[in-house]
Amino acid sequence: MSQAPRRTVVVLAAGEGKRMKSATPKVLHPLLGRTLVGHVLTASAAAGAEQTIVVVGHKAELVEAHLAEVAPAATPVLQAQQNGTGHAVRLALEAVPEATGTVVVLNGDVPLLRAETVGRLIEAHESGARGATVLAAEVGDPTGLGRIVRDAAGNLERIVEERDAAPEVRAIREINAGIYAFDVASLREALSKLSTDNDQGEEYLTDVFGILASVGHPVGVFVAPDADETLGCNDRAELASLRALLRDRVNEAWMRAGVSILDPATTWIDVTVRLEPDAEIDQNSQLLGETTVAAGAIVGPDTTLIDSTVGAGAVVLRTHSIGAEIGAEATVGPFSFLRPGTRLGRKAKVGGFVETKNAELGEGAKVPHLSYVGDATIGAKANIGAGTIFANYDGVNKSHTTVGEAAFVGSDTVLIAPVEIEPGAYVAAGSAIQKDVPAGSLGVTRAPQRNVENWVTRRRAGTVSAAAAERAIAAKDDGGEVSTAE
Ligand code: UD1
Ligand code: CA
Repeated sequence: MSQAPRRTVVVLAAGEGKRMKSATPKVLHPLLGRTLVGHVLTASAAAGAEQTIVVVGHKAELVEAHLAEVAPAATPVLQAQQNGTGHAVRLALEAVPEATGTVVVLNGDVPLLRAETVGRLIEAHESGARGATVLAAEVGDPTGLGRIVRDAAGNLERIVEERDAAPEVRAIREINAGIYAFDVASLREALSKLSTDNDQGEEYLTDVFGILASVGHPVGVFVAPDADETLGCNDRAELASLRALLRDRVNEAWMRAGVSILDPATTWIDVTVRLEPDAEIDQNSQLLGETTVAAGAIVGPDTTLIDSTVGAGAVVLRTHSIGAEIGAEATVGPFSFLRPGTRLGRKAKVGGFVETKNAELGEGAKVPHLSYVGDATIGAKANIGAGTIFANYDGVNKSHTTVGEAAFVGSDTVLIAPVEIEPGAYVAAGSAIQKDVPAGSLGVTRAPQRNVENWVTRRRAGTVSAAAAERAIAAKDDGGEVSTAE
């Protein structure tokens, strides 16, 4: 096998994207786990390039900061004025005078492009020993896009922008996707000949094809197997359509990999999420960021997981979770809010209307109802009663609470941090605990109860309560049976 030519990738990301009507540059808009340019960079990795240049311009500092995060190996090149895609590529190549072989150029706003398609485009280009190859697609509505003009023999003649096109060219439905492979020497040569003699007064990269073809340099077209991959993004409505297409693609891949997705139309899974076979995702759920869900776990309905880990066999119902680790067979929800630093052990339980933050629950520990658990370590098999508040913040500092193994905290308790409930200790319901409770002791801070006899019949005479009390008292006086609440 002969050695593959050296390769360079150039991503065009200097434009503003006016029609997005956004303070955020178009290529930084998010789409299921990556920005638009992030998706393009991921697909372009198939080129196995030695160098990746990203042409930046509009709000360059924002785009560069993003690149430093997601593609630190890429080199940004500034195009201070956006004089067209040809101008942008010319500047990019000036930054790599030593480049030889193939240059792959990608518009930064084509996020559905598959790595596989980039690979096949390069293969078609290099095996044909061409000067340039364009990725094209046959579309229903070519409005706004460059058209592929072929000669009678079907060979590529030139690419014409819609605004410069005669009606018969506008009628062509084969379009330029904005993804290309070039021989670098041919490209440099043709770029030096670009004019700005067009409707926008810009240097068009697409003119390279006509220039090369007119001197008999072989140029070609690679038709994308799936036209959806070539869709660009120019406004928010297109962004939403791309999002739905990507959602369907991601969901289908997971279902084919053995994940149950009960309602794919309302399930949104970032491309960065990892799922195991036999995980089940119920309707109206979003799995975002670095989330993972293990085998046999059930997530949803109505659940959002951000950067969260769900262990095997766990059940997470109607929950919002950010940065939490949910252990195997743990149960969460409905209506739970797990915040960063939450770690639930195996078979732990977080129930309805419970918020947790920086909270570790040991194996089988339970916080079943209506509680706030902040900055806490809760031992295995401990039980936290309904309405318990871990008071972790004194207005200045956050402090930690430790509840030992198999401790039992009664309902409506405030645990005022820093405090420790030692293993096996009990706390009486309704207590405000600020001193440690030793192992095996009962902590109680309740005021003793006092009943003021006949207060209701005297002070609330004439009310339904007074009437009910009077009937009950009369029944007792008669010696009759009065049913009392258990
Ligand atoms: C371009 C193509 C068109 C193709 C379409 C596919 C040209 C002349 N036309 O048109 O044939 O059908 O893409 O989506 O290339 N950019 C720069 N610097 C510039 C201008 C643009 O970096 O000076 C970047 C933009 O940020 C964007 C990409 O190049 O990522 C494409 O630019 P855009 O203005 O969207 O080109 P289109 O008019 O859509
Ligand atoms: Ca465009």
